[in-house]
Order: sequence, then C-alpha cells, then structure tokens
Amino acid sequence: MESIDKTATKAAWVYNTNGQFRDVLKLDKEFPSETSEDFKPDDILVDVVAMSINPVDYKLMQTYKFIGKGLKFPFVPGLDFAGKIVATGPDVRGLKVGDHVWGKQAIHRYRLQGGTLTTRVLTDTKCIYPLPESISFNDAAGFGVAGLTAWEGLVEHMKIKPGQKVVVLGGSGGVGTFAIQIAKALGAEVTSISSTTNLQLCKSLGAAHTIDYKSENVVARLAEIGPYDYVFDLINDNGLYNTSSKFLKPEGTFFGVASDFSFSFIASALSRKFRPKILGGSSHSYYDLRLKSEPKTIKEFTEFVVENGIKTVTDSVYSFDHALDAFERLTSHRAKGKIIIKMD
Ligand SMILES: NC(=O)c1ccc[n+]([C@@H]2O[C@H](COP(=O)([O-])OP(=O)(O)OC[C@H]3O[C@@H](n4cnc5c(N)ncnc54)[C@H](OP(=O)(O)O)[C@@H]3O)[C@@H](O)[C@H]2O)c1
Repeated sequence: MESIDKTATKAAWVYNTNGQFRDVLKLDKEFPSETSEDFKPDDILVDVVAMSINPVDYKLMQTYKFIGKGLKFPFVPGLDFAGKIVATGPDVRGLKVGDHVWGKQAIHRYRLQGGTLTTRVLTDTKCIYPLPESISFNDAAGFGVAGLTAWEGLVEHMKIKPGQKVVVLGGSGGVGTFAIQIAKALGAEVTSISSTTNLQLCKSLGAAHTIDYKSENVVARLAEIGPYDYVFDLINDNGLYNTSSKFLKPEGTFFGVASDFSFSFIASALSRKFRPKILGGSSHSYYDLRLKSEPKTIKEFTEFVVENGIKTVTDSVYSFDHALDAFERLTSHRAKGKIIIKMD
C-alpha cells in the first residue's frame, strides 16, 4: 500500500454540535483525511463519486445532545456511498485499487470516524460490494440504507412468498420505492399507500393496487382488497395499526422502520406494546426493525437488483457544494425516491 501522508486533506460536510442542518452543517474543504496509520489490514479507502442522504442523517443531527453523545465531533453525516478504490490494506483480497464499488458504512465506524458526505471514505470489505457494470454510481449511491432496509424487511423478516399480500405504507419514499419493486419481484401482490401525486409512480414500480391517503378511506380500501399478510410501515402510523383487524389476516404482522428519537415516537411504540384491544389497540404483532446490513445481505441485494432490474428512483441530484439544499428537500418529507449528492 502506498503511504498517505499526515497532511492529506479532503472536503467534508461536518457539524460540531447538534442542531438544525442550516445552522450546524458546514463545508470544510480541508478536513483531515485518513492516513496510512489509520488503516487496518482489511481496510479500504474509497474516493466517493456519489452518496445519498437518509432521514437518519437529519434525525441524528437535529436531535438531543445525549443521543449524539457517541458521535466523535466534528461529525460527518451520511452512510451511503459509491466510488472508486484508491488504497487497500494488506489483507484485502478480491478488490484492488481502481475498482468501482458501492457501500453502506458500518455503524461503529460511522459513530467513531464519521460518515460519507465527504470526498474520501475509509471503510472495509464488510461494508462494500463491487459495482456491477450495468449500474451507475448515482444509482448505486441510493442503494445503502433505503435499499437494504427494504430488502431486510421483506426478505429476512417477512420472508415474502409468491402470492402473499403486502401493504407498503409510504411507497413513494426512499425505502418505499425499493420495497414495492422488491416485493413485486418476490411475487407478492403489493398495495402502496401514497398521496395523489405519487400514485402513478407506485403503480409503475409494480404496485397492483394504489391507495391515495389524501382522498380515500384507506381502511375501507384495505378491507376491500385484503386480507393482508403484512404491512410494511415506513411512516409510523399507529392510527392504521389500531384498525388492523379490519384488513390483516389473524396471523398477519406489521413491520415498521420509521423510528426516531422523539417523545412522540416513544409514546406510539409504548401504545403499540401496551394498549389493550378493549381500549382501541391492535392484537396484531408490530415489530420495529433496525437495519443490520451484513456482508451477505449486501451481496444478495446486489445480485437480486441486477437479476430483477430493480431501479433506484431518483428524486433529485445535488452537487456536493449544494448539500444543504439536498437536506432541505429531504426534510420536506416529499421526496419521491432517493436524493443523491454528486462529488464533482
Ligand atoms: N430503522 C431503520 O433501520 C431505518 C432504515 C431506513 C429508514 N428508516 C426510516 O424509515 C422512514 C422512511 O424512510 P425513507 O428514506 O423512505 O423516507 P423519505 O424518502 O424521506 O420518505 C418520503 C416519502 O414519504 C411519503 N409520505 C410522507 N407522509 C406520508 C404518509 N402519511 N403516508 C404515506 N406516505 C407518506 C412521501 O410521499 P407523499 O408526498 O406521497 O406523502 C414521500 O414520498 C424514515 O422515518 C426513516 O428514518 C429507518
């Protein structure tokens, strides 16, 4: 491995304290880069070509200080990336300098060394996978958190089988656009719930049924189309959960991912767990999922995406210098698919 000297720098968006992204997130064009001394034997240094942001990035930034305590300030947000390998540790096998890869940074590395909203990322073989020729850097940059969460929910937790009926609540967002396509490719009959403007998008991704939460009686429509095996709740909608007996099979289950660090989320999670049916609760199980992204998952996801022509739905692409505008779009909660940030 070539040595990288201690004065090397990179560009990175960083924050030194929790707060609103417009107030705390700053561009540092001379942020210290990783050096040879930072390398572990199976580490890999990647020049980032594109990355994507996810709700967790602003949730962590804007939340209470005690949650961010484990972060090493100045902190770089971002977990997803696609780029080119510029250096490898001595134990790395099967990957070399110049290879194109995509990845999702591991949480322990993210907490200690920061994330991927930067031009250069130190990661390791467990977090990355070779980029198939048919996939662009921009598309692969959108895979990480959103694609893998959709995959783990549907494949590893629900274990979807052909013919099963699944609801994707929040079908037009980053996770939802992957979830509709993956569930359809697995042979499920998908019902997507979104606002009026996104119905056509969800249909085009493979939803057999679309429900407009703005103008339709969602529970009545679900009751008509169901009964369902699963609801993939990407919104944290306790109202819908509490009516589950009207549209879910007796053994049907909710899987949710939209957790955050707010008191309202904690209250809704407690209500799901403890509110008895007699007081308006649901008797169906609700599981809150956390993304694990094991190396096996990253490999299986990539192969499935290529085999089944799964696409990253791109809401918008921003230049690195305009990352704050990308966060503005993300925090609007109206993104249709993924928000990509390009480094050049
Ligand atoms: N636990 C984990 O490991 C994990 C992993 C990934 C994501 N997450 C969480 O999962 C949630 C979804 O993530 P994401 O990346 O998909 O978010 P996102 O891309 O920001 O979601 C935006 C989408 O949400 C839709 N939406 C907003 N309110 C809605 C409602 N009431 N009903 C239906 N759709 C609605 C919007 O469509 P309309 O304009 O049509 O309303 C928009 O297309 C976030 O809370 C995120 O933090 C958790």
